[in-house]
Amino acid sequence: MKLKVGIIGCGAIGSELGKAIGSRIPGADLVAVADVDEEKARKLSKNVFPVPRVLSPEELIDEVALVIECASSSAVAAIAEKTLSQGKDIMVMSVGGLLGKMHLFRLAQEKGARIYLPSGALAGLDGVKAAAAGRIDSVILTTRKPPAGLKGAPHLEKAGIDLDALTEEETVFEGTAEEAVEGFPRNINVAATLSLAGIGPAKTRVKIVADPKTSHNVHEIKIEGEFGRLISRTENLPSPSNPKTSFLAILSAIATLEAIVSPVRIGT
Ligand SMILES: NC(=O)c1ccc[n+]([C@@H]2O[C@H](COP(=O)([O-])OP(=O)(O)OC[C@H]3O[C@@H](n4cnc5c(N)ncnc54)[C@H](O)[C@@H]3O)[C@@H](O)[C@H]2O)c1
Repeated sequence: MKLKVGIIGCGAIGSELGKAIGSRIPGADLVAVADVDEEKARKLSKNVFPVPRVLSPEELIDEVALVIECASSSAVAAIAEKTLSQGKDIMVMSVGGLLGKMHLFRLAQEKGARIYLPSGALAGLDGVKAAAAGRIDSVILTTRKPPAGLKGAPHLEKAGIDLDALTEEETVFEGTAEEAVEGFPRNINVAATLSLAGIGPAKTRVKIVADPKTSHNVHEIKIEGEFGRLISRTENLPSPSNPKTSFLAILSAIATLEAIVSPVRIGT
């Protein structure tokens, strides 16, 4: 039996994931798609066979067994709440929008539903999860992006940082993961995922560097604890359709869905 899935948010991630379901994930059936911009949902539905229905997010949640959220950090909590209330599973890409919403994790527990958080553009989360079974002393994420990958972030406006004026790299933020997500809601989901896998958003430290000389979204993590030290560096190319989103984040959504429908589990 195929898993009935629906995608809410048919932008860079949703579109590529939708096409992948049609072409390379035989265990899943994309039955519906939704987007506030209905034209985007229609465009995706035309590119998938069998053709998914274009529905509202509410109608979609009623129709599927797994909701895949690829919309926005401001929309994710409401989408998750509606999905989990029905005891249905959800894969969340806008992970930053879940921070501070512990009631959603409790709701999933109560209803016996699952929340899947793909690793996104970050390598090393398997080690972080394993380390978190013991004592972790510190987690530091340093993210380096071209200015286009940070454009529009509320923190930059508040701090009066003009990305277009940069000729050299500049540290534009240092703080906790919860502060990073507030200041960069569309740019730093990896900080949220890392913090949930490790020692939480208040203890995870984040540094963001805007670098006009790079074309990659680079994430470096350094974790120390009783296990020793873990260092990883991921040099991501941006996705062709959205410079804020790394291509690996799209692939991680595809890989997570493949794992959900696969009988084999690899990694922790
Ligand atoms: N977890 C990760 O590592 C990671 C990595 C990159 C991006 N993201 C996040 O994933 C989400 C999708 O990223 P993307 O690159 O595809 O973005 P995108 O801007 O290309 O696409 C988002 C789509 O969602 C639609 N949308 C917005 N609000 C909606 C709502 N309330 N209901 C239905 N549709 C809605 C938009 O119209 C758009 O088509 C974003 O929140 C982004 O910040 C997460």
